Amino acid sequence: LGRKVINLKDVESTNSYAQKLAQADYPEGTVVFSEKQTKGRGRQGRSWLSLEGKGLYMSAILRPPFDAQEAQILTPLSAAAVCMALRNLGFKAMVKWPNDIYISGKKVSGILTETTLSANKIAYAVVGIGINLNHTKKDFPLELQQKSTSLRMEKGFPAKRRQVADKLIFNFNMLYDELIKSGHINSSIKICNEYSFLKGKIVTIKNQGCTITGLARKINSNGSLSIKKKDGEIKEVVSGELNKTIS
Ligand code: BTN
Repeated sequence: LGRKVINLKDVESTNSYAQKLAQADYPEGTVVFSEKQTKGRGRQGRSWLSLEGKGLYMSAILRPPFDAQEAQILTPLSAAAVCMALRNLGFKAMVKWPNDIYISGKKVSGILTETTLSANKIAYAVVGIGINLNHTKKDFPLELQQKSTSLRMEKGFPAKRRQVADKLIFNFNMLYDELIKSGHINSSIKICNEYSFLKGKIVTIKNQGCTITGLARKINSNGSLSIKKKDGEIKEVVSGELNKTIS
């Protein structure tokens, strides 16, 4: 990442912007930053709070030479990169499978990976990363105030966007190189497991119409989460909406 960097002041969504660049054949590694977003997008059709100067809003174009089924490994890779970037900066960041980063039990960052396929191959992927840098509690809507945090709220002084971005790109490149050179993401999975927020917690996950409740175990090499149900059955959940976490 970072071979070509585009810095915007204002955009609807860096993910949508990067999608357009990808369609216009911009190369792998192109990164888009914006100071704010007017229509920041989250997963499951949610919006992402994107106030000016408060957060890091970034999207990157990737062109991994893999099959459609392998697209899901980009999310644990990105989560591991964010987690390590924040850990390098002294934060006790944890990966909450599949795509959130938590500090002190609260969400500090989210990842939105959008993959475009062609003939069962990945044509390109856009990885969007939002990190709460300088929000204060009252910057968050009431319903998010207990669940969200920012680097500033954790450390007591403002975070520098540039510093966080540099660490993020450095860690991402290291983990992505491994994927391209070796075809696996063992280091990313190791990080996701070492700093797993869900491990040992009882979770309820809605997946393709059915709901699974059980003990969260490890994250597997393909990025799926292993869950042990009450009756002892082990389920590997590929991805889904996490509804509830009980420790
Ligand atoms: C989530 O937690 O639901 C994912 C949030 C992803 C937000 C980032 S901010 C940069 C990029 N542009 C977007 O519109 N969304 C992602």
